[in-house]
Amino acid sequence: MALTDEAYAKACCADLYQSPWARQILGDPLHPGGLALTNRLGRLMDIAENDWVADLASARGTSAMAISRAFHCRVVGVEFGAGPVAEAHAIAAAQSENNANSRGYFLRGDAESTPLATGRFDGVICECSMSLFADKPAAVADAARALRPGGRLGLSDFTVTPGTLPAELQGSVGQILCLAQALDVNGYAKLMETAGLKLTHQEDASEHVLKILDGVDAKLAALPILQQISGGAFGGPDDNEMIRQAPGLVARIRELVAAGELGYWLFVGEKPS
Ligand SMILES: C[S@@+](CC[C@H](N)C(=O)[O-])C[C@H]1O[C@@H](n2cnc3c(N)ncnc32)[C@H](O)[C@@H]1O
Repeated sequence: MALTDEAYAKACCADLYQSPWARQILGDPLHPGGLALTNRLGRLMDIAENDWVADLASARGTSAMAISRAFHCRVVGVEFGAGPVAEAHAIAAAQSENNANSRGYFLRGDAESTPLATGRFDGVICECSMSLFADKPAAVADAARALRPGGRLGLSDFTVTPGTLPAELQGSVGQILCLAQALDVNGYAKLMETAGLKLTHQEDASEHVLKILDGVDAKLAALPILQQISGGAFGGPDDNEMIRQAPGLVARIRELVAAGELGYWLFVGEKPS
């Protein structure tokens, strides 16, 4: 099957998150605030027992499984990358053997046009991924389509004031860090409203960006040991280039957060009944 440029870009993006350095440095789940912020989003969305929740861009299913365990709901993850979907299947099967409340189902798909059933979902979450999507209005419209009346979309993502991102955070590095195509706070709120959702909550969680940067600094300091014990599995030419740039990028991101130009926010929108 021939790949369109757009599909190629999405597949490359999915592959980037699978690279050893991305896993080591960015961690899992792949967003600021970790699972505590995922659960915060779930509480703001009022997710209830036995609800059906979709997780757009679910990667290895870490957030989806956590939401399922915390709220005793069923979660369908949609992810573009074939590798992470296969991993999510395996992790979900292992977890559901030990915990009956852990109910996650995963499928490969494009968040901009999902195969999710119309009007079927009580909630849709999308963490640190809307910023990556080329067609954000299509993704939010598709989520709104999948929600039942009264259902809620919970978004968490990087925010960037237009025109403030320095050159070194644009392009592929800015893309993998969810910054290159991020919107400002009003941009996400407007996306929801344009899709017919009523914005019920927005919350600044930017302090978690600083915490994740502290974690990245600590991991970078530990890298030489990691490279030694990984026996070469970690540290190809692309990895090394990324690692060389990392301390400077971390410092730039800190400056932008301090200046209020870059942040991380939660948004909840409700589909009118
Ligand atoms: C920064 S990671 C976030 C993953 C997860 N939501 C989390 O918070 O841990 C972005 C994920 O979005 C996926 N992705 C990017 N574009 C996508 C699309 N159009 N449809 C579905 N998944 C996509 C990538 O493959 C990657 O797994």
